[in-house]
Amino acid sequence: MTITIIGHGYVGLVTACVFADFGNKVWVIGHTKEKIDKLKKGNPIIYEPGLKELLQKNLKTKRLLFTLQYDHAIKESEIVFIAVGTPSKENGEADLSTVYDVVRNIARFLKKDLTVIACKSTVTVGTNLKIETIIKKHKNKEAKFVIASVPEFLREGTAVNDTLNPDRVVIGSESKKAINLLLKLHQPINGKRVIVNLASAELIKYASNCLLATKISFANFISFYCQKTGANVNHVLEAVGLDKRIGKNFLSPGVGYGGSCLPKDVRALINIGDRLKINTNLIKAVEEINLEAKNNFLKTIIKYAAGKNLAIWGLSFKPETDDIREAPSLHLIQKFLDNGFTIKVYDPVAQNNIKRIFKEMINYAQTPYQTVKNADALVIICEWNEFKEIDLKKVKKLMSKPYIFDGRNIYQPEEMEKLGFKYFSIGK
Ligand code: UDX
Repeated sequence: MTITIIGHGYVGLVTACVFADFGNKVWVIGHTKEKIDKLKKGNPIIYEPGLKELLQKNLKTKRLLFTLQYDHAIKESEIVFIAVGTPSKENGEADLSTVYDVVRNIARFLKKDLTVIACKSTVTVGTNLKIETIIKKHKNKEAKFVIASVPEFLREGTAVNDTLNPDRVVIGSESKKAINLLLKLHQPINGKRVIVNLASAELIKYASNCLLATKISFANFISFYCQKTGANVNHVLEAVGLDKRIGKNFLSPGVGYGGSCLPKDVRALINIGDRLKINTNLIKAVEEINLEAKNNFLKTIIKYAAGKNLAIWGLSFKPETDDIREAPSLHLIQKFLDNGFTIKVYDPVAQNNIKRIFKEMINYAQTPYQTVKNADALVIICEWNEFKEIDLKKVKKLMSKPYIFDGRNIYQPEEMEKLGFKYFSIGK
């Protein structure tokens, strides 16, 4: 099959590489020459485990083609996926302007033979119908098309594996032809098929991400009780998660959720609900608790740190990615600076992205050990594996004061005490 994917972010690029690897011809359309040139040379631009190898392999077979032009790609393709960003506007609403720009461009090049236009971007309920109206307005008379919503559930850091082995493939469409063609394309991919109407598919994505955010905020909410009562949040939530109706995933407390999806999708669902006059208190509280989780951690550090020299480990919004969008580190570093702390940071891959924001305001180290040298306290914001396996005796020797504030609960308090650290973790 020949397909086009518009957008080459975490969703677009990973999906393109995986479908090309299955033997399809895949066009990827971007709008920045510099990025398309890098992609053509096999540089994936983003850090995602396994992606570079997949990109380079499929470039060699010439099944994966990058372009800035719509005409050839759209004319040749049976399916066109939209996988562009839908960031938050000031009021929380999803900004759909890029989606609509892209749709107008697609419409101009549609051919007589049927094209399926499938939206992977997370969009407000009703957007796909609007996409249909825009295409009808801008296409040639003879051009034929049908629309579908195919929401994406991949996580950063495990995106390639998630694309190959999703729990479900959701296809929303009113067109049998669209459903059948999309089922054919997805044949080599695992996971249950869920066929629904357009609005359901659009809402499934928001419902999923907001429930994940709710579980995380609930874990943080319980951690506040633990901190004040002597209970241990890990013991409490482990036991809670053993109930199969609840499940143990996404119950890890910490400094809150970040990333390009959960925060924006929570805000968008609040915005949609407010417009539909639905009581959105539940998810408003999810968002408030997420901020409280960061501020609670900050207050503990301000209260107990024995000096102003902070070392920080882990800057990305979660491990195995260089993505810092809405990362808790951004909020915390700014607050530390506002409170007069001096900061040295380390992250295995996200360091350069943080440097673009904080420039000379903070210091950068090349290793975790360099970071803690002469520090009054170590703050852990993201739980990369290398921190879990670190030589803690060496860390203690290098620090000027043995204080650790662990925002992701990666060590055992008893062991830390034995090693002579003053160890502060979440909900204990
Ligand atoms: C999320 C959804 O999981 C995915 O299905 C969707 O397609 C895109 O959004 P992602 O943003 O890659 O994926 O990250 P995710 O693994 O969901 O983590 C989001 C944030 O929640 C991270 O900051 C992580 O540290 C935090 N988190 C996660 C917790 O604080 N506790 C947990 O128990 C789990």
